[in-house]
Amino acid sequence: MPTRLVVGISGSSGALYGIRLLRVLARRPEIETHLVLTNPAKRTILHETEFTIPEVEALATCVYDIRDIGAAIASGSFKTVGMVVAPCSVKTLSAIANCYADNLLTRAADVTLKEGRRLVILLRETPLHLGHLRLMRAVAEAGGVILPPVPAFYHHPKTIEDLVDHTIGRVLDRFGIEQGLVPEWRGSRPPVPARRHEAAVADRCAPAGRVVEAERG
Ligand SMILES: Cc1cc2nc3c(=O)[nH]c(=O)nc-3n(C[C@H](O)[C@H](O)[C@H](O)COP(=O)(O)O)c2cc1C
Repeated sequence: MPTRLVVGISGSSGALYGIRLLRVLARRPEIETHLVLTNPAKRTILHETEFTIPEVEALATCVYDIRDIGAAIASGSFKTVGMVVAPCSVKTLSAIANCYADNLLTRAADVTLKEGRRLVILLRETPLHLGHLRLMRAVAEAGGVILPPVPAFYHHPKTIEDLVDHTIGRVLDRFGIEQGLVPEWRGSRPPVPARRHEAAVADRCAPAGRVVEAERG
Protein backbone atom coordinates (compact mmCIF):
# COMPACT_ATOMS: atom_id res chain seq x y z
CA MET A 1 0.00 0.00 0.00
CA PRO A 2 1.63 3.33 -1.01
CA THR A 3 1.65 6.27 1.37
CA ARG A 4 -1.03 8.53 -0.06
CA LEU A 5 -1.34 12.15 0.97
CA VAL A 6 -4.17 14.38 -0.25
CA VAL A 7 -3.04 17.95 -0.95
CA GLY A 8 -5.57 20.74 -1.36
CA ILE A 9 -4.59 24.22 -2.49
CA SER A 10 -7.20 26.92 -1.97
CA GLY A 11 -7.26 30.57 -2.92
CA SER A 12 -5.53 32.35 -0.07
CA SER A 13 -2.19 34.02 -0.36
CA GLY A 14 0.71 31.60 0.00
CA ALA A 15 0.29 29.23 -2.94
CA LEU A 16 4.02 28.64 -2.61
CA TYR A 17 3.39 26.51 0.49
CA GLY A 18 1.34 23.95 -1.41
CA ILE A 19 3.73 24.02 -4.34
CA ARG A 20 6.77 23.47 -2.12
CA LEU A 21 5.04 20.57 -0.38
CA LEU A 22 4.39 18.95 -3.76
CA ARG A 23 7.98 19.58 -4.90
CA VAL A 24 9.45 18.01 -1.78
CA LEU A 25 7.21 14.96 -2.05
CA ALA A 26 7.82 14.61 -5.80
CA ARG A 27 11.33 13.46 -4.85
CA ARG A 28 9.84 10.64 -2.77
CA PRO A 29 8.62 7.84 -5.05
CA GLU A 30 7.18 5.96 -2.07
CA ILE A 31 4.70 8.79 -1.41
CA GLU A 32 1.72 9.50 -3.67
CA THR A 33 0.28 13.00 -3.69
CA HIS A 34 -3.37 13.47 -4.67
CA LEU A 35 -3.91 17.08 -5.62
CA VAL A 36 -7.03 19.21 -5.85
CA LEU A 37 -6.96 22.95 -6.62
CA THR A 38 -9.82 25.40 -6.19
CA ASN A 39 -10.39 27.93 -8.96
CA PRO A 40 -9.25 30.84 -6.75
CA ALA A 41 -6.09 28.81 -6.03
CA LYS A 42 -5.33 28.79 -9.74
CA ARG A 43 -5.62 32.56 -9.70
CA THR A 44 -3.29 33.02 -6.71
CA ILE A 45 -0.75 30.58 -8.21
CA LEU A 46 -0.59 32.70 -11.37
CA HIS A 47 -0.56 35.96 -9.41
CA GLU A 48 2.02 35.03 -6.76
CA THR A 49 4.37 32.51 -8.35
CA GLU A 50 6.31 31.76 -11.51
CA PHE A 51 4.45 28.48 -11.96
CA THR A 52 1.81 27.68 -14.54
CA ILE A 53 -1.12 25.49 -13.48
CA PRO A 54 0.07 22.51 -15.59
CA GLU A 55 3.51 22.81 -13.94
CA VAL A 56 1.94 22.64 -10.48
CA GLU A 57 -0.29 19.75 -11.46
CA ALA A 58 2.69 17.87 -12.90
CA LEU A 59 4.28 17.81 -9.44
CA ALA A 60 1.49 15.58 -8.10
CA THR A 61 0.95 11.87 -8.60
CA CYS A 62 -2.78 12.33 -9.32
CA VAL A 63 -4.77 15.49 -10.03
CA TYR A 64 -8.51 15.87 -9.60
CA ASP A 65 -11.06 18.34 -10.89
CA ILE A 66 -12.54 20.42 -8.07
CA ARG A 67 -16.05 19.61 -9.39
CA ASP A 68 -15.47 15.86 -9.42
CA ILE A 69 -17.18 15.02 -6.15
CA GLY A 70 -17.16 11.35 -7.22
CA ALA A 71 -13.34 11.15 -7.33
CA ALA A 72 -11.41 8.57 -5.30
CA ILE A 73 -10.45 11.04 -2.56
CA ALA A 74 -14.16 11.74 -1.94
CA SER A 75 -14.52 8.31 -0.36
CA GLY A 76 -13.24 7.10 2.99
CA SER A 77 -12.63 3.68 1.43
CA PHE A 78 -9.71 5.22 -0.49
CA LYS A 79 -6.97 4.86 2.12
CA THR A 80 -4.75 7.86 2.77
CA VAL A 81 -2.56 9.03 5.62
CA GLY A 82 -4.49 12.30 5.63
CA MET A 83 -4.74 15.64 3.96
CA VAL A 84 -3.00 19.01 3.94
CA VAL A 85 -4.73 22.21 2.84
CA ALA A 86 -1.86 24.53 1.95
CA PRO A 87 -2.71 27.33 1.95
CA CYS A 88 -6.26 27.39 3.30
CA SER A 89 -8.54 30.37 2.75
CA VAL A 90 -11.11 31.45 5.30
CA LYS A 91 -13.82 30.37 2.88
CA THR A 92 -12.47 26.83 2.66
CA LEU A 93 -11.88 26.75 6.43
CA SER A 94 -15.51 27.75 6.89
CA ALA A 95 -16.72 25.00 4.58
CA ILE A 96 -14.61 22.41 6.41
CA ALA A 97 -15.71 23.63 9.83
CA ASN A 98 -19.36 23.40 8.77
CA CYS A 99 -19.11 20.14 6.76
CA TYR A 100 -20.24 22.10 3.71
CA ALA A 101 -18.74 19.71 1.22
CA ASP A 102 -19.84 21.23 -2.07
CA ASN A 103 -16.53 20.76 -3.89
CA LEU A 104 -13.94 17.99 -3.97
CA LEU A 105 -11.46 19.76 -1.69
CA THR A 106 -13.95 20.31 1.12
CA ARG A 107 -15.45 16.84 0.61
CA ALA A 108 -11.99 15.24 0.86
CA ALA A 109 -11.30 17.25 4.02
CA ASP A 110 -14.59 16.15 5.55
CA VAL A 111 -13.81 12.53 4.66
CA THR A 112 -10.38 12.89 6.25
CA LEU A 113 -11.96 14.03 9.52
CA LYS A 114 -14.75 11.47 9.54
CA GLU A 115 -12.24 8.67 8.98
CA GLY A 116 -10.17 9.90 11.91
CA ARG A 117 -7.22 10.74 9.68
CA ARG A 118 -4.88 13.69 10.05
CA LEU A 119 -6.08 16.96 8.51
CA VAL A 120 -3.57 19.82 8.56
CA ILE A 121 -4.87 23.28 7.72
CA LEU A 122 -2.45 26.09 6.79
CA LEU A 123 -4.95 28.88 7.33
CA ARG A 124 -3.68 32.20 5.89
CA GLU A 125 -5.48 35.32 6.92
CA THR A 126 -4.66 38.26 9.13
CA PRO A 127 -5.94 39.90 11.22
CA LEU A 128 -8.41 37.34 12.52
CA HIS A 129 -11.87 38.23 13.78
CA LEU A 130 -13.85 36.18 16.28
CA GLY A 131 -15.68 34.34 13.50
CA HIS A 132 -12.38 33.10 12.07
CA LEU A 133 -11.26 31.97 15.50
CA ARG A 134 -14.54 30.11 16.02
CA LEU A 135 -14.09 28.29 12.71
CA MET A 136 -10.56 27.27 13.68
CA ARG A 137 -11.84 26.03 17.01
CA ALA A 138 -14.57 23.97 15.31
CA VAL A 139 -12.04 22.28 13.03
CA ALA A 140 -9.69 21.63 15.95
CA GLU A 141 -12.58 20.13 17.94
CA ALA A 142 -13.32 17.82 15.00
CA GLY A 143 -9.72 16.60 15.11
CA GLY A 144 -8.05 18.88 12.56
CA VAL A 145 -4.67 20.52 13.10
CA ILE A 146 -4.60 24.29 12.59
CA LEU A 147 -1.07 25.08 11.42
CA PRO A 148 -0.98 28.67 10.16
CA PRO A 149 2.11 29.42 8.06
CA VAL A 150 3.62 31.73 10.65
CA PRO A 151 7.32 32.26 9.94
CA ALA A 152 9.94 31.46 12.55
CA PHE A 153 13.29 33.19 12.72
CA TYR A 154 15.34 31.10 15.12
CA HIS A 155 16.80 29.14 12.20
CA HIS A 156 18.11 32.39 10.64
CA PRO A 157 16.24 32.26 7.31
CA LYS A 158 17.96 34.01 4.41
CA THR A 159 15.35 33.55 1.69
CA ILE A 160 11.60 33.16 1.22
CA GLU A 161 12.31 29.50 0.49
CA ASP A 162 13.91 29.14 3.93
CA LEU A 163 10.74 30.51 5.53
CA VAL A 164 8.45 28.29 3.46
CA ASP A 165 10.58 25.20 4.07
CA HIS A 166 10.39 25.67 7.81
CA THR A 167 6.61 25.48 7.73
CA ILE A 168 6.54 22.60 5.24
CA GLY A 169 9.01 20.68 7.39
CA ARG A 170 6.66 21.05 10.35
CA VAL A 171 3.73 19.90 8.21
CA LEU A 172 5.60 16.74 7.21
CA ASP A 173 6.48 16.15 10.85
CA ARG A 174 2.75 15.88 11.59
CA PHE A 175 2.58 12.90 9.24
CA GLY A 176 5.80 11.31 10.46
CA ILE A 177 7.29 11.79 6.99
CA GLU A 178 11.05 12.16 7.09
CA GLN A 179 12.07 15.62 5.94
CA GLY A 180 15.47 17.18 5.62
CA LEU A 181 14.09 20.72 5.67
CA VAL A 182 14.07 21.58 9.37
CA PRO A 183 16.79 20.29 11.65
CA GLU A 184 15.57 19.15 15.04
CA TRP A 185 15.95 21.90 17.61
CA ARG A 186 18.47 20.85 20.22
CA GLY A 187 18.25 23.93 22.40
CA SER A 188 20.09 27.21 22.16
CA ARG A 189 22.44 25.87 24.80
CA PRO A 190 23.49 22.25 25.11
CA PRO A 191 21.55 20.33 27.77
CA VAL A 192 23.29 19.68 31.04
CA PRO A 193 23.58 15.96 31.81
CA ALA A 194 21.93 15.05 35.09
CA ARG A 195 24.68 14.13 37.56
CA ARG A 196 23.71 10.52 38.12
CA HIS A 197 23.55 9.83 34.38
CA GLU A 198 26.52 12.01 33.58
CA ALA A 199 28.82 9.29 32.38
CA ALA A 200 26.12 7.58 30.32
CA VAL A 201 24.77 10.63 28.53
CA ALA A 202 27.79 12.90 28.34
CA ASP A 203 28.38 11.93 24.72
CA ARG A 204 24.76 12.44 23.69
CA CYS A 205 24.69 15.90 25.23
CA ALA A 206 27.96 16.96 23.60
CA PRO A 207 29.20 19.45 22.75
CA ALA A 208 28.98 20.66 26.32
CA GLY A 209 31.76 23.20 25.98
CA ARG A 210 29.46 26.16 26.55
CA VAL A 211 28.00 24.87 29.79
CA VAL A 212 29.54 26.74 32.67
CA GLU A 213 30.20 24.91 35.86
CA ALA A 214 27.86 27.16 37.90
CA GLU A 215 24.87 26.11 35.80
CA ARG A 216 25.33 22.50 36.73
CA GLY A 217 23.98 23.26 40.19
C1 LIG B 1 -4.29 37.50 -4.68
C2 LIG B 1 -5.33 37.01 -3.70
C3 LIG B 1 -4.97 36.77 -2.39
C4 LIG B 1 -5.92 36.33 -1.47
N1 LIG B 1 -5.51 36.07 -0.18
C5 LIG B 1 -6.38 35.54 0.70
C6 LIG B 1 -5.94 35.16 1.99
O1 LIG B 1 -4.77 35.33 2.36
N2 LIG B 1 -6.84 34.59 2.83
C7 LIG B 1 -8.13 34.34 2.45
O2 LIG B 1 -8.88 33.77 3.26
N3 LIG B 1 -8.58 34.70 1.22
C8 LIG B 1 -7.75 35.29 0.34
N4 LIG B 1 -8.18 35.62 -0.92
C9 LIG B 1 -9.62 35.51 -1.23
C10 LIG B 1 -10.02 34.09 -1.65
O3 LIG B 1 -9.38 33.75 -2.87
C11 LIG B 1 -11.55 34.04 -1.82
O4 LIG B 1 -12.20 34.18 -0.59
C12 LIG B 1 -11.99 32.78 -2.51
O5 LIG B 1 -13.40 32.78 -2.61
C13 LIG B 1 -11.54 31.53 -1.76
O6 LIG B 1 -12.09 30.41 -2.42
P1 LIG B 1 -11.52 28.94 -2.16
O7 LIG B 1 -11.46 28.75 -0.71
O8 LIG B 1 -12.57 28.05 -2.81
O9 LIG B 1 -10.22 28.82 -2.84
C14 LIG B 1 -7.26 36.11 -1.86
C15 LIG B 1 -7.61 36.35 -3.19
C16 LIG B 1 -6.68 36.79 -4.09
C17 LIG B 1 -7.09 37.05 -5.52
